[in-house]
Amino acid sequence: MRVTGTGHASMRIDTPAGSILCDPWVNPAYFASWFPFPDNSQLDWDTLGDVDYLYVSHLHRDHFDAAHLKRYVSKKATVLLPAFPTSEMEDELRELGFTHFLKAPNEEVVELDGGLKVMIQALTSPTDGPIGDSSLWVEYDGVRLLNQNDARPTDLSLFAELGHVHAHMLQFSGAIWYPMVYELPQAAKTAFGKQKRDRQFDRTWRYIDDLKADHVFPIAGPPCFLDDALWQFNDIHGDEGNIFPDQSVFLSEYAKVGGTNAVVLLPGSVAEVTTETCETSHPVPVEEFFANKVAHLEEMRERKRPIIEAEKASWRHPEIDVLKEMQRRIEPLLDESIYIAKGVGGPVRFDLVGYDGESVESIVVDFPGKQVRPYADEKVRYRFRTERALIEHLLHIGEVDWVNSLFLSCRFSAARIGQYNEFVYSFFKCLSEERLQYSEGWYDEHERAVDAEDITIGDWVVQRRCPHLKADLSRFGVVEGDQLTCQLHGWRFDLSSGRCLTSVGHKIRAHRVDEQAPAPAGESLT
Ligand code: FES
Repeated sequence: MRVTGTGHASMRIDTPAGSILCDPWVNPAYFASWFPFPDNSQLDWDTLGDVDYLYVSHLHRDHFDAAHLKRYVSKKATVLLPAFPTSEMEDELRELGFTHFLKAPNEEVVELDGGLKVMIQALTSPTDGPIGDSSLWVEYDGVRLLNQNDARPTDLSLFAELGHVHAHMLQFSGAIWYPMVYELPQAAKTAFGKQKRDRQFDRTWRYIDDLKADHVFPIAGPPCFLDDALWQFNDIHGDEGNIFPDQSVFLSEYAKVGGTNAVVLLPGSVAEVTTETCETSHPVPVEEFFANKVAHLEEMRERKRPIIEAEKASWRHPEIDVLKEMQRRIEPLLDESIYIAKGVGGPVRFDLVGYDGESVESIVVDFPGKQVRPYADEKVRYRFRTERALIEHLLHIGEVDWVNSLFLSCRFSAARIGQYNEFVYSFFKCLSEERLQYSEGWYDEHERAVDAEDITIGDWVVQRRCPHLKADLSRFGVVEGDQLTCQLHGWRFDLSSGRCLTSVGHKIRAHRVDEQAPAPAGESLT
């Protein structure tokens, strides 16, 4: 099996029974904030796109690059489609001209022509990507590969049961706006960033240890930030709180925990994977490439500047009355929202900075009051500050997912009272009837689910499944003193009270080994 690195989370898998192109991403994403690094735009995409199968793991724009898919990927390719709850991905791909779809039954091995086997695991909670993320398992002639991508299954046993895996591709770096955009003192930001960076690596080691593949390929990031306004997010400034460590940092951190089987693919690198070996060749030496990272970034910044400027010029729509349009789009959804609105529990304020960089319009999305209105000098749960032009653009294009556009762009700052609140982001990624209904249903089911099994970790008896997204705490739970951390997403719980210290709600059931279990109580959203 041959694996060609095509940048970020993208790769082309070639076997005698057919080729699969995964997640090709070349054009900037999220308001021209993210670019693939190393640059992959110089690859021979006409040839790479001439494939038998296309696999797009999810709709995040650093995986689903519509312009690139349209221009470069053969429309004869059969799309290996994850079993997502909504038809958005299929609809978008059909619009781009794809007509052949294989809707892979979730978590079932499918045998394709010539003995090529694939299995897709789709994750479908409201917090998995834009309502869905997935991983692809491939087998040909006894060689097995798992492209886990940036998906976060609770464990990898499903794949491990299919036989020993030879190549494991997974995310190791950050892909979020936390903590950089928060209006916090620099020392706090650095401390939170460092915690996050450590957690990302811990989670990666856990997955690697779960699967015990012969070779581990760090993929799916980090992106690079080429706009001057975002340049500080590149991990080149010696900031230990930067959440975007690159593949060379992965190699050194992995070596510290005894890892010796890492394979870094640059765009154009080729790995020949057999049941016994992995022979890799690179267009340039990997170490040398990352040693010159700053020079590469600076060169890219100059080369891509016109692209960024052209995108920026398209964002302004002064004809849009932002308040009115937000009312029209958002109020009907607030009316329908039960779980998410209750979970947010307070007003969320948007401060929109005008074209002059100074004037500010303040709009509140009032979740308890179910309305969008001007800010009324009140206490709010969250406050976001961003350019008015960005919101104008989102309204202009009818964007249904402000996470997969505004928030991932990192072109905003934020402040909040109290803990992280996942419902805020769940709502702003569900600005369509279809998505909102799905998410409401998911929370409904999830909140009602009775999770009775307990396990013992150290001095504590705790429920087996994490109250967040049901990770198995016998694998992901780490207890220190009276606190439990679930390493899947890093949420922390105070075991004496059961309180989640990371996010609102999500109480955990716990008691000391030598104490009696308290009377059962249901989970609460508030
Ligand atoms: S499943 Fe997300 S923190 Fe446990």
